[in-house]
Formats: sequence, C-alpha cells, structure tokens
Amino acid sequence: MNGARRAPLSSRSLHSSPVHMASSIVLFGPPGAGKGTQAGNIVEMTGKPQVSTGDMLRAALAAGTSLGVEAKGFMEAGQLVPDSIIIGLIEERLKEADAENGVLFDGFPRTIAQAEALSQIAEVSVVIAIEVPDGRIVERICGRYTCGACAAVYHDTFNPTANPGVCDQCGHAEMKRRADDNEDTVRTRLSAYHTQTAPLADWYRQRDIFVAVNGDQDIAKVGSEIAAVL
Ligand code: AP5
Ligand code: MG
Ligand code: ZN
Repeated sequence: MNGARRAPLSSRSLHSSPVHMASSIVLFGPPGAGKGTQAGNIVEMTGKPQVSTGDMLRAALAAGTSLGVEAKGFMEAGQLVPDSIIIGLIEERLKEADAENGVLFDGFPRTIAQAEALSQIAEVSVVIAIEVPDGRIVERICGRYTCGACAAVYHDTFNPTANPGVCDQCGHAEMKRRADDNEDTVRTRLSAYHTQTAPLADWYRQRDIFVAVNGDQDIAKVGSEIAAVL
C-alpha cells in the first residue's frame, strides 16, 4: 500500500522500474506550480486518467449542481473546500471503470485528512511535488488562460497558443480566465497551501513515496524531470 519503497530521485536511475500498474500517482505543489500543465504528458506516459479536484469542482459550479453551489464561496475566496465534500467526490470518481488501474491525482490530496481518507481507498505509489518559489506564482497565475472545451492550460507569456485564441490541443476557440486567478485570491490560496497542504509533504516523506522536482525552469525541463521519476 502506501509503504511502497522509493529511493530519492538522485539515487534512482532513469531506467528504474515504472510506477506500479494499478497504483495512483499524486501531483503535488502550490497553486500555479504547473500540475495541470504537466498532467497531459503523464497521462500519455502512464495511461492513467487525470483526476483534478479543481476541474471537477469548476464543472460542478458551471453545471449549477448542489456540490457546485456549496463549493463556490470557498473557491472564489481562495480557501480549501471542506474535506468531507472533497473526499465524497473522490470516492465517487474512483468507482468509475477508467480508475481501475489507478489515476493521476492533480490537486488532491490537500490536507492530511484527505490523504488519510485516500489511503483507505487507493494505493499511491509516488507523490511528485513540483516546487516553485512563491515569488513566481502570481505572474504565472495572473497570465493563465484555459481552453473552455478541453481545459488545456496556457500562459500569455510563458506558454501561448500557436494561433491566438485557438486551442493547440483540440482546435476550439473558447479561451477562459478562471474566476480565482487574481492577485488577492492567489495570496489566500498560497497561504492555504502553506498552512494546510505543505505539511502533507512530510506525511508522504515518512512513507518514502515523495519525490520533488524543480518547477522553476521551463515547462519541457520540468516534464523531463518528471519523466525520469516515472
Ligand atoms: P485547483 O484548480 O487545483 O487550483 P490550484 O491548486 O490552486 O492549482 P492551479 O490549477 O492554480 O495551478 P497548477 O499547478 O495546475 O498550474 P498550471 O499548470 O495551471 O483548485 C482550485 C480551488 O478548488 C482551490 O483553491 C480550492 O478552493 C478548491 N480545491 C481543489 N481541490 C481541492 C482539494 N483537494 N481540497 C480542497 N479544496 C480544493 O500552471 C499555471 C500557469 O503557469 C499556466 O498559465 C501555465 O501555462 C504556466 N506554467 C506552468 N508551468 C510553467 C513553467 N515551468 N514555467 C512558466 N510558466 C509555467
Ligand atoms: Mg491546475
Ligand atoms: Zn482545447
């Protein structure tokens, strides 16, 4: 289960055995670290579906479900949505057929209570933490835009679409800015990260499945570091 032994990145060769087939991967890191940006490659490499609690909550909000209504205020304020809501959402998602061989969690778990609940229902073989200093986060988040059709992530300066306004991935011209991508909310999200989520790093370190990559370099280099871990 969660006790799977993994050597630190520095002591592992690029050819170490791949992530266990039926187990899940956690992408961990502050808001704007690049979790969504890197998820696509990992899905391609591993065949595991991306499970982003942020994307699921935004979809619920857009659909006007009771879950979306409950989550809205927390998300707009940049605060974490209560654990009970998130854990229920994940329990339901993991019952779906495509989750049978494990998933790629993006932005979950974010509290020790969420990690403990997850350990009861799924095996996690590696937690990949994308480390980015706070000073880089605001410019990343305030320049972000996403495709309204496929949720691909872009940036005004660091990762623009090849054709302005048209998604490189799916060809739709439906770019959106997130309601919580403004400087004030980002500061609250960062503070929630440091107080509630960052302590989870030690929780996973104690279980020997935590690997950190340097997220403060260009997108392709971060991707190569992650590929080396996998
Ligand atoms: P969520 O949607 O998960 O947002 P987040 O964690 O704040 O993370 P982001 O999606 O903002 O960042 P990212 O790491 O995916 O970065 P990205 O790749 O987009 O959560 C939103 C809200 O939902 C939360 O605040 C909370 O309210 C609620 N919520 C969700 N999950 C929850 C949970 N488990 N528990 C409780 N509440 C929960 O990149 C950012 C930008 O930077 C992009 O523009 C990108 O192009 C650019 N970029 C990426 N990599 C690089 C690079 N290497 N160099 C330069 N630019 C880069
Ligand atoms: Mg994201
Ligand atoms: Zn798209």
